[in-house]
Formats: sequence, C-alpha cells, structure tokens
Amino acid sequence: MRAAVLVTGGAGFVGSHACKALAAAGFLPVTYDNLSQGHRWAVRWGPLEIGDIEDRDRLQQVMDRYRPAAVMHFAALIAAGESVAEPAKYYRNNVSRFLVLLDAMRRQKIDQIVFSSTAAVYGTPESTPIDEKHPLAPINPYGMSKLIGERILQDCAAAHGLRSISLRYFNAAGSDPDGEIGESHAPETHLIPIVLEAAAGDRPHVAVFGTDYPTADGTCVRDYVHVTDLASAHVLALARLKSAHGAEAFNLGNGNGFTVREVITAAERVSGTKIAVKQEPRRAGDPPVLVADASRARAELGWQPAYSDLNVQIGNAWRWTQGWSRRQAVGR
Ligand code: UFG
Repeated sequence: MRAAVLVTGGAGFVGSHACKALAAAGFLPVTYDNLSQGHRWAVRWGPLEIGDIEDRDRLQQVMDRYRPAAVMHFAALIAAGESVAEPAKYYRNNVSRFLVLLDAMRRQKIDQIVFSSTAAVYGTPESTPIDEKHPLAPINPYGMSKLIGERILQDCAAAHGLRSISLRYFNAAGSDPDGEIGESHAPETHLIPIVLEAAAGDRPHVAVFGTDYPTADGTCVRDYVHVTDLASAHVLALARLKSAHGAEAFNLGNGNGFTVREVITAAERVSGTKIAVKQEPRRAGDPPVLVADASRARAELGWQPAYSDLNVQIGNAWRWTQGWSRRQAVGR
C-alpha cells in the first residue's frame, strides 16, 4: 500500500504539481482543499477530499480515513499586494487556520510537515543573493504570516517534537512540462501569467508596477523558479523528514534575477507577439530585488533544479495557457 501524504491546497498551483511528484515517488497524495482557489481538474494523482482547514471535524475524518504519515501544507493566501490592504484576512487564513491543522495533526500523532514558506519572509534584502541566515524582516502581512507560521513550527518542535521543513519559494513560475496541469488564479495577480494573457490578446496591456526602483531598468527583480523544481524539493524534504529533527528552512530559487521588463521581453520572444506595457506606480509591499542563494537546499536536500532557464519556464507556461484557453473556449 502506498503511504498517504495529506496535501492541503493540493488543487492549487504548487500543490497540484507536488501531488504529481509525490505520486511519481510512490506516495498517495490526498488532496484536502476547499476549492476556493484550487481546481478540481488539477487533482489527478490521488483522491480529492473537499474541506476547509478550519473545519476540525472534517480534517479529523480525512486523517482517520487515510492515516497519512505526513502533511504538505499549501493551503494559504499568497498575494503580497492584497495582504497590505487586507491584513486580517491573511493572518486568519495563514495563521489561525494553520493552528487548527497543527492541532489536528497532533491529535492524530502526525509529526512531519512540509510547509510552504516564501522569500517574502526576508523583506527588503540587505544583501543579495539571500541565504537562510539573512535577517527575517517581512515588509508585508503575507510575509509576516508565513514567518509566524515558521516560528510556530519551531516552537512546536521544541514543545512536542514536531518535525518540519519550511521551503521558502522565490517566484514560482512555469507549468508541468507534460502539459497536464498549470497555473490558473482568479483573479490573476502574478506577473508571468498576466504577461502571457496580454501576449494571447486576453488583456490590452501589462501594468508595470514601479519603474523607479534601484535596479538596471528601474523595475523589480525576481528569481523565478519552476513549479516542477519546487515540487521535487517537496519530495526531497519529505525524505529528509524521516531522519531530521526540529524545524528547518530552505530557500528555493535559481540565483538569477530578472527585471519585470526582462520577463516581458522573454515572453515576447517565446510567444512571438509584441506586448503593450503601461507604467504604473509602485505596488505596496514589493521589495525591489529578491534573488536566492539556494546552496543549502542543493547541499542538504540534494535539490537539483532542472528548469532554471527563464525561457523554458515561460515557454511551459505559454504552452499551458494556449492549451487551456482553447479547452475553455470549447467548454471542456
Ligand atoms: N508585477 C507587475 N505587474 C503585474 C504583476 C506583477 O509589474 O501586473 C510586478 C510586481 O510588482 C513584482 C513582480 O512583477 O515586482 C512579481 O510580482 P508577482 O505578483 O508575480 O510576485 P511577487 O514577487 O509579488 O510574489 C510572489 C508570490 C509570493 C512570494 C514572492 C516571493 O506571490 O507568494 O513571489 O518572491 F512571496
């Protein structure tokens, strides 16, 4: 029998790619998702159990049914900009509801968790690339809610031996190279899918938030990491949890930064279209530069990103978007 892993948010972008990687590694990914952001079509490698992480009874029921040895926790709100306007919503979802999940795990004696964290825990970096020793100083409620999550995991490790690995993603990008699943948020706030929507003619232009940052062309720099590489890191983290103790954190990024304008130029190349741009003021809560030093994940998890090329990431996302748009158009 395959060992079950409970994947909260398994119908979402990174969660669904993690389910695919878990199944390929011999696990049974059990998706627990309320489908508020995720999609039924993205759950393809194991059962879908619809439920909310604040619903103790439902969580308990699903844990009783599958007896997972570990949890991967993706269910969270993720838009840094929105979190500045709606802080309570972020703390409620990413902190209060996370506590309900941890309580349920404890009752069920599940002592292993891989936690989706973020580069946003670092805030505006003092130096780049950023390694895990860099000071933690989030500049938006989203980053703070994830940092509190990490802190809770440390305290639970000390108090009752919970074993955890927090994976601090830089900017998740790309889509499944086999084209089986991909990114679809509503509303979309992330740069690459927005740029590709403009390339496909589904939006008139891309708004560039801030052109006066202290970067090469004045726009923000981000380190884009392929979602399939994020997924493989989760499986490696799960393997490490068998023997690791305490609470650990690893950065996941490629160490290469690209400006917003460079992303647009790459998308123009990949799609063969010209993308209209509109300069807009800075978006609240955006650090100018986020670039990872992920050498710890490479050395200690054995992580080897396979899709670090931005053109490949955008190419996968473009192919997904095109196929997806066609399927939507014909109603399938
Ligand atoms: N941007 C635009 N126009 C848009 C959308 C985004 O100019 O229409 C800019 C943003 O201002 C930012 C960059 O593109 O400078 C990337 O923005 P995203 O919204 O794609 O991603 P973020 O960097 O804000 O956040 C993402 C995840 C977070 C994670 C963070 C870590 O959403 O969960 O990466 O880098 F914390």
